[in-house]
Amino acid sequence: MQLLIDKILNNSQVVSDEILRVDSFINHMIDPNVMLEIGREFARRFSDAKITKVLTVEASGIAVGLTTAMALNVPLLFAKKKMPSTLQHYYLSNIYSFTKNESVDIYVAKQYLNRHDRVLIVDDFLARGEALKGLTQLVKQAEAELVGIGIVIEKAFQGGGKALRDSGVRIESLIKINSLEGGKLHLEE
Ligand code: G4P
Ligand code: NA
Ligand code: NA
Repeated sequence: MQLLIDKILNNSQVVSDEILRVDSFINHMIDPNVMLEIGREFARRFSDAKITKVLTVEASGIAVGLTTAMALNVPLLFAKKKMPSTLQHYYLSNIYSFTKNESVDIYVAKQYLNRHDRVLIVDDFLARGEALKGLTQLVKQAEAELVGIGIVIEKAFQGGGKALRDSGVRIESLIKINSLEGGKLHLEE
């Protein structure tokens, strides 16, 4: 995980006590080598889990999801935030964003997720866990098996990870941030 750790330490910006900007390698410009490393690491950690599908939500989850799906040799399915006009049979759930103070519906076509699937959910950030809750609801609706969740950057101080782990979900976070207070990045050892 050395590439990712170096990027976090040298190329991220603390923009407030709550938000870390990673626009130069994850959220705006994407570093493909970092993404490859991330995908391989998730595949390694979940190698025994017999995953059939990787699930994320557009937009920033897609790059993470693609390298993970490639490493596991399974399809990547991403939930859409706008209902495609051609979509007739779909699972629907809702994500509330504290950062943006608004909620969006997310959609997945029923034909791409079913009860035979063993699903790994991945995303770039875990804050309060609202996005992940929305994604886990799609998995439930499909009666698929949620095998685990892979997160690139978990902001542990915002509590979403604890709530999900307490509910029994296996979460693997590559980077855990304990605090961003005072403009300083405090990573968990
Ligand atoms: P939650 O889902 O964990 O509850 O978090 P929240 O509502 O706060 O997140 C809203 C959006 O902001 C999400 O992206 C999430 O990935 C992103 N986000 C949360 N915390 C941080 C942070 O510290 N830094 C950065 N760079 N992003 C953060 P989204 O709305 O789904 O947008 P997209 O990037 O996928 O298009
Ligand atoms: Na995201
Ligand atoms: Na994001």
